Formats: sequence, structure tokens, C-alpha cells
Amino acid sequence: MPADSDDSASTLPTGTPPANLLERLVSLGKQRGFFFPSSEIYGGINALYDYGPLGTRLRRNIRNRWWRSIVELRDDIVGIESSVIMNPQVWVASGHVAGFSDPLVDCTGSCRKRWRADHLPAERAARGKAADAPGCPECGGTLTAPRQFNLMFRTFLGAVEDSSAQVYLRPETAQGMFVDFKSVLNSSRQRIPFGIAQNGKSFRNEISPGNSIFRTREFEQMEMEFFCEPGTDDHWFEHWRGERFRWYVEELGVRRSRLRLRDHEKDELAHYAKAATDVEYLYPFGWGELEGIANRTDFDLSAHQRASGVDLSYLDPVSGSRYVPYVIEPAAGVDRIMLTILMDAFDEEIVRGETRTVLRMHPDIAPVQVAVLPLSKKEELTVPARALEHRLRPHFATDYDETQAIGRRYRRQDEIGTPLAVTFDFDSLQDDAVTIRERDGMTQVRVPIAGLEGALRDQLIAFRRRTAERAGSGA
Ligand code: GAP
Repeated sequence: MPADSDDSASTLPTGTPPANLLERLVSLGKQRGFFFPSSEIYGGINALYDYGPLGTRLRRNIRNRWWRSIVELRDDIVGIESSVIMNPQVWVASGHVAGFSDPLVDCTGSCRKRWRADHLPAERAARGKAADAPGCPECGGTLTAPRQFNLMFRTFLGAVEDSSAQVYLRPETAQGMFVDFKSVLNSSRQRIPFGIAQNGKSFRNEISPGNSIFRTREFEQMEMEFFCEPGTDDHWFEHWRGERFRWYVEELGVRRSRLRLRDHEKDELAHYAKAATDVEYLYPFGWGELEGIANRTDFDLSAHQRASGVDLSYLDPVSGSRYVPYVIEPAAGVDRIMLTILMDAFDEEIVRGETRTVLRMHPDIAPVQVAVLPLSKKEELTVPARALEHRLRPHFATDYDETQAIGRRYRRQDEIGTPLAVTFDFDSLQDDAVTIRERDGMTQVRVPIAGLEGALRDQLIAFRRRTAERAGSGA
């Protein structure tokens, strides 16, 4: 007998996101503990966020999945962790001190807001104005002429606060891979072509952060520098372009129909790039970059070789030729992927006259895979249910919840994307069986407790298959 005659959807999920999706997610994020403003008890701080228990689990899953596919499942990519604060010469050589800046304009009218000059048309459009309307998007006031604003945060190393002690918080993790290239090459038995990957915090004093965790001032990157022989770089660029697009659809379950690859025009290429493609997602505020794939040529290694005086060339042991390797870089952001997954998974449907919110997340990304719910708060159910949840912990990401009515608890798990709920009811005491309820169709099946791990594994396999079909078809 099912633990609860759970409901069936009166409408099929449409997959159409609500108009106010971002606001809904911000509210869900706070209510359920995915993300919320940093230092909120002091009124927060602009464009900095904290991640709650569920957000932390979700981010860890994203990070682990990236690491597994980029490093652990390959024999040609190794991982490192470099420091956030590096020798400031790194940022001089890389071009960041001179050129890592955005054009900034100030409103001299009533709102006094500060804007990125290249974002003005979009900001006007977001407020229902013509993209080329004159003046400030907010109040129409006169704008100053654009001036360049360097995005790197500065601080001082040691006790003396003068220019000789000035250092930077890294604005990208990539430079760690370039300056450690020789050490990794000499210590890891890798031969070109091979990659170095790392994941960690980066910092940018963005002029116009926004759209919640889409653009923040402290964020987490997952970057990989793939070193290859000049002349093979176009091939590897194509390879990583395709591979990174595939990853979002097949391994994160993001809908193909909301993803696209967009090649950069020549005039938008970064100073180091010969070619670049963005994996873009269709956000409620338009297409936006989710990940960038760039052909950085030998720009960085050559620049560091010149500035440091250390030979960063590679001697091919087979051909005997010596060259400075070219680099293909896929660069992604954990925060942005998290927002994208939440948006892509968000769905609402009417069930028995009430709106059911459900995150149709990939079962391997969901913060909780299996929730264990005793039907009632009576000890005869809670004690064995708790023991069962402990038994499942080594095998699945679990949660235990005994508060409120069972229907409310199902809804709560739907809202955080939990694929499976196990309900322990009074019959369980007699028949040694429990009910597994799945998130998407809300179907229930009775299974013996003895074989529960296997039954859950089978259901997760079916979930993976359904997620892949949905992501691939774009529905
Ligand atoms: N090393 C190359 C590089 O950093 P990028 O396009 O500036 O390239 C790569 O950044 C990724 O890092 C972006 O696609 C995005 O996911 C993430 N990212 C960049 N700036 C960000 C910000 N201010 N807030 C959140 N994520 C950001």
C-alpha cells in the first residue's frame, strides 16, 4: 500500500519559465538556503553572496562533476591549486594591470549611478527605453565621457602599505596554470598535448554586477589550460568547443534548446585570444555567457617567459622540436552554472488546484538524492526511519524530515529538486517494506527494505535516462 495517496498532475509540465523567474529563484534561494546576500544582518554588501546548506551541496556537486570529467576521467589533464595572491609581476606580464578594465560612465543627473558604457543599450532596453536613447538609463541624466576602470582588487602584502607592497586578488585562476607550467611539466610525466586545471575563487571589482549570482565581485571559476603544439590549436579549439557544450547537456542535464555556442566577433576578442566561443544560456534577461572557450595562443607563456626570464618552451622528446605551446582554455563559473541549473530545472504545475513548484534537477547534481520521511512523528516510525536514513547515507546524499504533514514534506523536497523520497509508514512495521515516491511523475512504488539500496539505484538510473532525454530534446 502506498504511504500516501500522493497526487497526480492535472497539467503536464510546460517547461515555460515564469516571467519573474529570477525573482522567484532569489526568493526560493533564500527560503530554502541555496544562496542569500552576504553579511545580510548588516544590510548586505553589493554583489557578494553566501551559500547556505543546500547551495553548498549543489556547488560541491557541480565542482565535483567538472573535476571528474576534466581531470579524474582523463589521463592527459592534471589538477593544481595556486594561491589567490600572486607575485604582482604576474599581472603586469599577463596584461591585466594595463588592460583588464571596463569603460565606466557616471550619471551626473539625479540618480548618480555608475554604468559600464558597453552595457548601456541593454540597461536601457531592460527599462523599456530605446537602446540608443540619450543619457542615463535610470533617470535620463547626462553621462560623463567613458573612462577606463581596472577591475582588479588591490591590497598590501605585509605591514607596509606603499606601492612596493601592492598586490592583487586574482581576477582569473588561469594565470596560476601558466606560471606553474614548468613545475607541472617537470613533476608530472605529462607530454604535450596535456592540460592543467584548477578551481577556485576569483575577484573582480565589476562596475555593473547584477542579476543575482550571475555577475558578482567574488566568484568561483573552473578553468583548464590545454597546452598543444602550434598548428594543432584549431583542432583542439574545436574539440573543446564541442566537448564543453556536450557537458552541459549530458552531464548537467541543461536543456539543449536553451543553450547555444556563440563565436566572438574579431572586435570583441580579448587581448590574448585568436578565437573565442561562448557557451550561452537563454536567461530571462537574454542570452548570456555561461562559459568561455578561448584560443589563447602562446600569448601567456611567451609573456611570462619574457618578463621572468625563465625558459617556458617545450622540447618535444620524439621530434626534437622546441616551441612555446599554444593554449586552449575552457573557463566556467560555479556561481553562474548554479544559477543556470536552478533556472533550467524550475517548473510549476497545478496539482489538485494548488501550484506545485518543482526543480527538475539532474539526480547526480541535486543537493539531496533521497529523502527519508516517516509518515508520522510517532517514535515507532521515527526511530526506524532515522536508522534507515543512516543506513542509506554512505550510498546517497540523504535528508531526513519528520516535520509537518507528508504532503507538505513532499512539496518541500520537490522544491529543492530531491528525486526520490522514501516513506516509512505503519505498514512498514509489519511488511518490512517502504514506499519510494519519485519527484517528476509523483508515482509511488512499494519495495522491500532489504533491497532498498538496489531499488533506489535503479530508480536513479531511470532518472538519469529521463533527464538526458529531456535535456537532449530540449523539452
Ligand atoms: N580565464 C578566462 C576568463 O576568466 P571570463 O570569460 O572572464 O574568462 C570565465 O570568465 C567564466 O567565469 C565566465 O564564463 C563566468 O562563468 C565566470 N565569471 C566571470 N566573471 C564573473 C563574475 N563577475 N561573476 C560570476 N561569474 C563570473
